[in-house]
Amino acid sequence: MSSKHTSTIFVYLILLTFLLLFIYSTILPLYSPSPTSAQSSKLPFKQFTSDPTKTRSPFCNFFQGHWVLPNLTYKPLYDETCPFHRNAWNCLKNKRDNMERINSWRWVPEDCDSPQINLVKFLSLMRNKRIGFVGDSLNENFLVSFLCILRVADSGARKWKRKGAWRGGYFPKFNVTVAYHRAVLLAKYKWQPVKHPNLSNQGGLAGIYRVDIDIPADDWMEVTKFYDVLVFNTGHWWGLDKFPKETPLVFYKEGQPILPSLGTLAGLKVVLESMVSFIQREVPHGTLKLWRLQSPRHFYGGEWNQNGSCLLDNPLGEGQVETWFDPSNGGVNREARQVNHLIKAALQETNIQLLDLTHLSEFRADAHPAIWLGKKDAVSIWGQDCMHWCLPGLPDTWVDILSKTIIYNLENRL
Ligand SMILES: *[C@@H]1O[C@H](CO)[C@@H](O)[C@H](O)[C@H]1NC(C)=O
Ligand SMILES: *[C@@H]1O[C@H](CO)[C@@H](O)[C@H](O)[C@H]1NC(C)=O
Ligand SMILES: *[C@@H]1O[C@H](CO)[C@@H](O)[C@H](O)[C@H]1NC(C)=O
Ligand SMILES: *[C@@H]1O[C@H](CO)[C@@H](O)[C@H](O)[C@H]1NC(C)=O
Repeated sequence: MSSKHTSTIFVYLILLTFLLLFIYSTILPLYSPSPTSAQSSKLPFKQFTSDPTKTRSPFCNFFQGHWVLPNLTYKPLYDETCPFHRNAWNCLKNKRDNMERINSWRWVPEDCDSPQINLVKFLSLMRNKRIGFVGDSLNENFLVSFLCILRVADSGARKWKRKGAWRGGYFPKFNVTVAYHRAVLLAKYKWQPVKHPNLSNQGGLAGIYRVDIDIPADDWMEVTKFYDVLVFNTGHWWGLDKFPKETPLVFYKEGQPILPSLGTLAGLKVVLESMVSFIQREVPHGTLKLWRLQSPRHFYGGEWNQNGSCLLDNPLGEGQVETWFDPSNGGVNREARQVNHLIKAALQETNIQLLDLTHLSEFRADAHPAIWLGKKDAVSIWGQDCMHWCLPGLPDTWVDILSKTIIYNLENRL
């Protein structure tokens, strides 16, 4: 089957999915319990709606499209002086090569207007609201881009770090709070020496990382009712390099190890199911819940600790993307799509919306910090960074799409 043909089918599948979600979301409120007092203080977001006055399909798909390089050099909204930067991703300050070109590529979605953020419209609609990110450093990367962009419309922005947030910002002009809660596996986990008799026969263990699949990490457990929009992710910590076999992840349920022990991906599956059900139970109905899919890595020629490299001048082409990421090709970066597959399965029949930023990011092998990490010995110690993204850079496009998604949901509120 040609890839053109495949993508046409894909588009129909997406449309069908949205249709089903729409039907589901219009039926659901009839059967949901009446809101509690904690929930009724919030204006509910309606998930999807049909508006007969709109001619354009409301189900614009920002996630399929292509990258173009216009003649004009595009100037990013912020620079290296943004106070929310994290040094390792501040590629302008670290004098990364190619930054002008990296930021000139534009994402053009199929059949949609350009998704570029309208700052004043967005912040005005978000007045008195709070947006929370929960997950790993790729969500932090997303957050830093978001804070630096929003700050353009409110120079009085200041750092905000409460309620267990790892970092965040407050925008006084609009009374908007945006913060990130670090919870790399979403579930609670901690290191412990091996003392469980049923695990000791594995031999050679230095200790285990105990993951309580039914307990969310403390960092976000208490904030489910604090935010009006929540953006979840998890992914990069479910690889072998974070938890090698000497100190594996061991999954616990109701305080007991799950036996026989689960492998990492099987563990991810049960954690996702349990966290999704926690979110469905605990997050108020009116909160907009989004789940951003995996951010792809681009290590070429080896893993991060085997001199894997991403010194590319341009985005990958369509065919290259398949070679790098199709699991059947066994490349070093194949786990992104495997992880996504499990996430999509876990989110079925929920009202958590997918923010499928994976495919558009798969092209951008050129946009990582690579060797420009701002520290002299960083590359020899940690290797290149082909996982996080330069700022300004690709995450600014994620922000554009996030802002459109939030606005769309707000404007179609019940
Ligand atoms: C881009 O620039 C080239 C050379 O300056 C010019 O010939 C071409 O017409 C431009 N294309 C567009 C789309 O503006
Ligand atoms: C700011 O927004 C919060 C909710 O995010 C609200 O509780 C508070 O009253 C607002 N403050 C003002 C001054 O409007
Ligand atoms: C160890 O496993 C055995 C057999 O599965 C079970 O009967 C026993 O309760 C387990 N021990 C603990 C401490 O969980
Ligand atoms: C990485 O590159 C360095 C310097 O070129 C070399 O000494 C080392 O053996 C390489 N490591 C691997 C795992 O290939």
